[in-house]
Amino acid sequence: MTETPRQELTSELLLDYYDKRGRKLPWRENSDPYRVWVSEVMLQQTRVETVVPYFNAWIEKFPKLSDLAVADEESVLNMWEGLGYYSRARNLLKAIKIVAEDMDGLVPRDLVKLRTLPGIGEYTANAIASIAYGEPVPAIDGNLRRVLSRLFDLSYPSPKELRSKADLLLDRDRPGDWNQALMDLGATVCTSRAPVCEECPLEEQCQSRARGTQGERPISKSRQLVRSKIHAVVIAVNYKHEFLLRKRPRNGLLGGLWEFPESEVTREDTATSVHNDVARGLGIDMAADQVELIPLNSVIHKFSHLKITYKPLLIFSTVQGSNCKFTDHEYRWVEYNSVKNLPLSVGQQKLLKHAKEALTYRTCGVGAV
Ligand code: ADE
Repeated sequence: MTETPRQELTSELLLDYYDKRGRKLPWRENSDPYRVWVSEVMLQQTRVETVVPYFNAWIEKFPKLSDLAVADEESVLNMWEGLGYYSRARNLLKAIKIVAEDMDGLVPRDLVKLRTLPGIGEYTANAIASIAYGEPVPAIDGNLRRVLSRLFDLSYPSPKELRSKADLLLDRDRPGDWNQALMDLGATVCTSRAPVCEECPLEEQCQSRARGTQGERPISKSRQLVRSKIHAVVIAVNYKHEFLLRKRPRNGLLGGLWEFPESEVTREDTATSVHNDVARGLGIDMAADQVELIPLNSVIHKFSHLKITYKPLLIFSTVQGSNCKFTDHEYRWVEYNSVKNLPLSVGQQKLLKHAKEALTYRTCGVGAV
């Protein structure tokens, strides 16, 4: 039977692996706490390959903490567009402003102080403190959870149990590299579905490998049910080649982003009656002679536990002026080609693309967009 993994040996094997085969990622070029912080926030719930171009563009636009501290929320959301979970960007901006104004522009090294900042929980605080400052703390994300569960052959490890195992093995001289080595190992070798144990530097230390249980460690929580919703979307177009958009409230899902007016289709409703209600609220009479209705293909967008099917209706109206009765959001008519300058979620970008295509092919009137 394989013995419990020993600190010195695992550290040596792991760091040697990291030095030779660790991934070369842009945020690893130096240990500037600001860069580490931005990368860690982007990497929450997002894959490394997706983050790399966003991180590079971000650092080009906001190279230093002081550059981001004076940015406005709209330009920050624009840079984040497509990464999802937009509250991450808003919290990052808020926290950076606090550091700039109240902490002399220095990202705290202290874990308790780090955790007072918006958007920084235990994992992110530990990642920043260990990677940027060499504080001896483990940053236990999904990859570390899997690798540690296998190394110690644990089925359902609690956070406390994982923390105590990580503390046993953590390299106190190079904690940041140790954390990132385990992240790399988990992402490339010790993967959840098909671990490549023959390529693992810790193969000999791994208790799951010795017992053949690596496929079941850790045992995954039963997959959470994904809820489904249908939203009726009104894409209003006027004679000046403008779309009518609105800004979502700052708090909540996709807060602060722009969208086409919409409403959920509840079970008793048909999408058509909801389109009618939304249009009426916008001051548009769908039955009027000067109005042309163009139904567009549905767009499906998935969030972590929610699937929304958007049913868009393009309403082309030559009626001049508008009489929007809704007061719940900020509404704005935006010229076709300027819409892309507003922060939009991926689902709304797909709707925009459909709408522009439909307008391009529309025979009477508008012509190419
Ligand atoms: N995931 C979270 N943080 C990471 C990092 N620093 N390197 C690679 N993947 C990560």
